[in-house]
Amino acid sequence: MDLSKITGQFTESIIRDMTRVALRHPGSINLAQGFPDFPAPESIKHAAIEAIQRDINQYAITWGSASLREAIVAKARHYNHIEADPDKNITVTCGSTEAMMASLKAVINPGDEIVIFEPFYENYGPDCLLSGATPRYIRLRPPDWSFDFDELEELFNSKTKAIIINTPNNPTGKVFSKEELLFIARLCVEYDAIAITDEIYEHILYDNHTHLSIASLPEMADRSITINSISKTYSLTGWRVGWAIASDKITGEVRKVHDFLTVGAAAPLQEGAAFALSLGEEYYRWLADFYRNARNILYNSLLKTDLYPYKPAGAYYIMTECTDFMQKHQLQNSVELAFFLVKNIGIATVPGSSFYSDPSNGKFIIRFCFCKKPETLQKAQSYLSKISKATHGHHTQNIDN
Ligand SMILES: Cc1ncc(COP(=O)(O)O)c(C=O)c1O
Repeated sequence: MDLSKITGQFTESIIRDMTRVALRHPGSINLAQGFPDFPAPESIKHAAIEAIQRDINQYAITWGSASLREAIVAKARHYNHIEADPDKNITVTCGSTEAMMASLKAVINPGDEIVIFEPFYENYGPDCLLSGATPRYIRLRPPDWSFDFDELEELFNSKTKAIIINTPNNPTGKVFSKEELLFIARLCVEYDAIAITDEIYEHILYDNHTHLSIASLPEMADRSITINSISKTYSLTGWRVGWAIASDKITGEVRKVHDFLTVGAAAPLQEGAAFALSLGEEYYRWLADFYRNARNILYNSLLKTDLYPYKPAGAYYIMTECTDFMQKHQLQNSVELAFFLVKNIGIATVPGSSFYSDPSNGKFIIRFCFCKKPETLQKAQSYLSKISKATHGHHTQNIDN
């Protein structure tokens, strides 16, 4: 029997598969899938419990409860410099995952092309295929994960319908600069394309990097879809509450897709999310400090090994180049390497090949995540000491800022 020709083009997520591999290796540390191993803030949990007790237990309004849409509008104005109307520009979804899928379904026609930066967050490829578009890839190159402006300009053409941006970026930790976003914005205006921007790591920034939403740049408000969720900022990946901010016209279509895809996100958890968005500056300072410390523990541990970590500017992942180590252990590709590390070192990671359209481009890279409590990262540090390099020194200095 013939099944979908579209789903036949991609596999299940390798990231989430590596979590299952970690579970099969008792005692191993899961630095593969990006979810925190520490409790979510008490006050937010309390707000959701209280909503259940108040009997907010039936369908919310399809595009989101009024309280959450208002909280999103206030936060978007304050943090992202985006003006939105809760009745016209916001769609609350089941995580940013659904926001991305609903956005693509809402804007794509057969034959359209979508530009994607690679290495990419694994979902974008299948999202693109499921929406019926053809993905076109633009390379981010280490060590700073910059891209070539001319190469990007060459990719844009009359079929380009959208470009997906993810800043701060998973897996590279890149934070797109104003100059880069202005250049992308110019191309979007020139080619009448939409910037679909996934900003779920917007509060996780290091070394004085700042977050900029492309929707706040001139002429971009009506041609951007700004996607976000509570998953990473409030350590609530399992609640599945996200949203998309877009023009009235685009929102009308996104809401229709969302309505028929999922009807709505969990009603009491939307109340908890509205409370989360009202937290003050102190919370975001704590979050940034917590992750700076976590990044430094893992980065400094990796510096002492035969693996070469690229220091991230944002988000909570470290891309690591492993050519020497792989040669030493006769490992052919990053999948073999990831299995070697989980079996012999006790740490689950994600093979770099899962972040590239041509897997061979990620052959010598693996991704570690560090959204874990200090105890977990210290344990990872002791596991990594099993592969310390004999002589120290040719890598960059330890960081402690
Ligand atoms: C870049 C990026 N976008 C989206 C998601 C999924 O987010 P959500 O939990 O809001 O669906 C992740 C999760 O790791 C991610 O890294």
